[in-house]
Amino acid sequence: MNEIERIDQLREELHLHNYQYYVLNAPVISDQEFDRLMRELQDLEAKHPEHYDANSPSVRVGSDLNKDFQQVEHRYPMLSLGNTYSEAEVTEFFDRVSKSLNEEYEICCEMKFDGTSISLTYEDGKLVRAVTRGDGVRGDDVTDNVKTIRSIPLVLNGSGYPASFEIRGEILMPWTVFEELNRERELREEPLFANPRNAASGTLKSQNSAVVASRKLDAYLYYLLGEELPCDGHFENLQEAAKWGFKVSDIMRKVKTLPEVFEFIRYWDVERKNLPVATDGIVLKVNSLRQQRHLGYTAKSPRWAIAYKFQAERALTRLEKVTYQVGRTGAVTPVANLTPVQLSGTVVKRASLHNADIIASLDLHVGDQVYVEKGGEIIPKITGVEVALRPAGSPKVAFITTCPECGSPLVRYEDEAAHYCTNDAACPPQIKGRIEHFISRRAMNIEGLGPETVDLFFQEGLIRDAADLYALRAADICRLERMGEKSAENILQGIERSKQVPYERVLFALGIRFVGETVAKKVARAFRSIDALRGATLDDLLHVDEIGEKIAASILRYFANPKNQDFIERLSEAGLQLEAATEEEEGRTDRLAGQSIVISGVFAQHSRDEYKEMIERNGGKNVGSISKKTSFILAGENMGPAKLEKAQKLGIPIWTEEQFLAYLDV
Ligand code: IVH
Repeated sequence: MNEIERIDQLREELHLHNYQYYVLNAPVISDQEFDRLMRELQDLEAKHPEHYDANSPSVRVGSDLNKDFQQVEHRYPMLSLGNTYSEAEVTEFFDRVSKSLNEEYEICCEMKFDGTSISLTYEDGKLVRAVTRGDGVRGDDVTDNVKTIRSIPLVLNGSGYPASFEIRGEILMPWTVFEELNRERELREEPLFANPRNAASGTLKSQNSAVVASRKLDAYLYYLLGEELPCDGHFENLQEAAKWGFKVSDIMRKVKTLPEVFEFIRYWDVERKNLPVATDGIVLKVNSLRQQRHLGYTAKSPRWAIAYKFQAERALTRLEKVTYQVGRTGAVTPVANLTPVQLSGTVVKRASLHNADIIASLDLHVGDQVYVEKGGEIIPKITGVEVALRPAGSPKVAFITTCPECGSPLVRYEDEAAHYCTNDAACPPQIKGRIEHFISRRAMNIEGLGPETVDLFFQEGLIRDAADLYALRAADICRLERMGEKSAENILQGIERSKQVPYERVLFALGIRFVGETVAKKVARAFRSIDALRGATLDDLLHVDEIGEKIAASILRYFANPKNQDFIERLSEAGLQLEAATEEEEGRTDRLAGQSIVISGVFAQHSRDEYKEMIERNGGKNVGSISKKTSFILAGENMGPAKLEKAQKLGIPIWTEEQFLAYLDV
C-alpha cells in the first residue's frame, strides 16, 4: 500500500471510530490507538498536501484561519415552532390537525433541545455546509467551526442516503462542559456564560475553530429536508439518518392519542433533569410527510408541529430592597435583595433587575411578593409580582438619581437602557474596575495582581490609576498587611514584564469604551502608534473596517480628555509599547494568548527551546506539566506514556509540530 492509499484507509477508519465513540458512545479501540491512527494520518497528510480533503477526520482539530462569516441564504427557510404552555393548547392543536386531516395520523413526540439551531447540507455523503439560523432566511456559514464537533459526521456511513439533503438540529453544550468552562472563566476573571445555550452559540460564532474544537460541543439532529428522503415518516427517516451516522435522540415516541402525549410530557418534564443537555420543552410533529404537506405552514411556522414549553421552576419570595452596583464603565446595575428561598436545589438571595425599565415594567414595590425563576440561567431573574399580596402603603421602587458609591448625579444616554455615574475620574469602583481591566489576562496580563490586591493598593493610596503601578516600589508593597518580600517581588516582576505587551493589547487595556479586543487589533493595524491614533480625525477613524460612528466618537472623546492624555504620557514614560512592533519584531502575535502549552517528545523541525520561544513570541505560556488548564500539548516523537495517558484522560488536544507550525503560519 502506498502512502496515498494509507491516507484514504486511515480517513475511513477514523471516521468510523469517531462515529462509534461520539455518536454511539461505544468505542471499539482504545483512545491511545485512536490517537496513534490520527497522528499517522496527520503526518501523512502533512507530507501529501496535494491529497488534501476538506472532510478529513483531521479537520476536527480546527484552525484559526476562518475570518468573518459569510452570509448564505437557506435553501429552505428555517422556521420556528408555535409555542404553547398549557395542556389545553395542546388539545387545541390536536383538534385542528384532526379536523384538517380528517383521517388517522400519528404524532411524533420528542425533546425540545435548548441550544442553537444549525442546518447541515450533505452532498454525496459529505458535509459541505453548516449554516446558523440567522434571521431564518439567511444565516452565517460556520462550516469550519461545525466540522470540529465530533458527533457531526463529516462523511456518512453506508450508501442509503440521498445524493443531496439538509438535516437540521441543535448544537448543545453539555451541562458538565458548561460548568467546567464557567469555572475556568471565573478563575481567569472572564465574563461567565449565562446558560449552556449562550455558551454554545457564542462558541459556534468564534473566529477560531481551534477554540470551538476545545469546547466539546455536541449535536442532536431532528429534522430532514430533501427531495428524495427514504420514507414518508419523519420518525422513520430519522432512524435511517441514525444509520448514516447522525446523532438522533432516542427519546422519540410515536403516539396516536392525547393521553399518550400528556404522559410523555409529564414523564419528561421530571426526567429531563437527568439528561446531559438542556431541554426546554417537548416538540410534537405530525409524523407523515404527506400529511405535513397537507397541513402546510403559516407565515412563521408549520401547522403540523408545535412546541410545548416546560414551565420554568419558580419560587415566590419577598423583595427586601434594591441595591445598586457600579461597574468599570460607570453603568449602574440594580440588584434585588430577596428573602432567601429554595429554588431548583439552591438558595436564592439576589436576583438581577438589569435596568430602570425592567423595574418600571414590573411595577415593583418594596416588600412585594415576587416570582423568581432560574430557567437555565445562573443568575435568577424576577419574572412577576403577586400584586394581590402587596402590603398596603408599600413604596414603589424608585431608581436612584445619584451614584451609591460617590454621590455624583446619574445620567441616562439616549438609546441606552443603563444609568451611568459620570464621575469616572474619582468614583472608586470605576477606578478599580479600570485598573482590573488593565491588568487582566487578555489586556496587560500582569501576573501576581488580582482584584483583591488592586483593592488593597487603592485603599492604601498607592494607586489612583493603572499608570501608578509602574511607579510602585518593593518597599511600598512590603509594608502592607499579608504582603511579604516574595509577593512584592512577584508583583513587580509581573509589572515589569507587562512593558513588553504588544501595542494592540495596550490599546485594549486602556479601556476605551466600545474598544474591545477585536476593535483594538483593527485600530492598531490602521494606526501604528498611539500618536497616530491621537491625531486621527473622525473621517480617518471611519475609514477603518468595522469602526462606525459610535466607536469613532468614543475614541475621539477619550483622547480629547486631558486626564487621559496625561495617563498615556505616564504610560509612555514607564516604557510601555505604544507603537506597533518594527518589521524584525513582527513575528510577535497573540495567537496563543491565554493558552497554556506543554511541550513533550522529540522534534524534527525545531529544537525544544525554539518551540518554547515561539510559544512565548505568540503570547502563549509554556508550562511543565499537564493539568486541566493545559490548552494543548505540542507533541514530538516518543511522548512519554504517562503524559499521553494523562492528556487523554483530561481530553487535552495533542498537536503535532506540523499542525503547530501551520497554526502559526511559519
Ligand atoms: S423541529 C419547522 N425539533 O426549536 C420546524 N426543533 O422554535 C423545525 N428545537 O429553531 C424545527 N428541539 O432550534 C424541532 N426536536 C426538535 C427541536 C427543535 C429544539 C428548536 C429549533 C427551532 C426551535 C423552534
